[in-house]
Amino acid sequence: MRPRAIVFDAYGTLFDVRAVVLEGIFPIDPDHDTLLQLWRQRQLEYTWLLSLMDRYEDFWNVTQSALQSSCRQLHIELSASQCNALLRAYLSLPIFPEVASALESLKRYPLAILSNGSPHMLSAAVGSSGLDSRITEVISVDTAKVYKPSPRAYALGVAALGLAAEDMLFVSSNWWDVWGAKTFGYRVCWCNRSGEAMECAPDFEVTSLDQIARRLTG
Ligand code: LAC
Repeated sequence: MRPRAIVFDAYGTLFDVRAVVLEGIFPIDPDHDTLLQLWRQRQLEYTWLLSLMDRYEDFWNVTQSALQSSCRQLHIELSASQCNALLRAYLSLPIFPEVASALESLKRYPLAILSNGSPHMLSAAVGSSGLDSRITEVISVDTAKVYKPSPRAYALGVAALGLAAEDMLFVSSNWWDVWGAKTFGYRVCWCNRSGEAMECAPDFEVTSLDQIARRLTG
């Protein structure tokens, strides 16, 4: 299968949201994995709830509310400056180790991002990671004011790239995003880094983004 463009999810797929550094922010470091996992879970739950309730708040606000709520639940005191410092980490998130070489191996294709991130979050993270030289189109669901997995969010990729969904490959590490994109009509690759299971079958599955180029030519 030779797609006419490849569309990537951002957070958890290209950018490692679990790599936010907590050292130096709190007087006593909270458990890194517990906080980062709950923060991410709440962030996603808020996006799903907002969409079901027919409401929209941008991803920066969602990410902030999710952090505050996670800290409350874990009995971690969070000052305004600590909150800002953690949120700012989203502007310069590290990319997963294989991302640069994977995008290099896919450079014959137009490469885009379609993400829940707000435009300023995405442009900051894409710029600071150097991915701006590879990614031709950064699409934020903010245009549609609804989060993935709403079909209106996935439709933004079709509109921005001027291609049918079935002519594009959508790549995500987030199982629910794979399901949403597949249901919308994209061909879908699930980058299943941690061996998760789910009901919806993607077109193909990899464990690392640098396996995609081979799968497309093989
Ligand atoms: C994104 C979230 C789903 O980048 O990770 O859209």
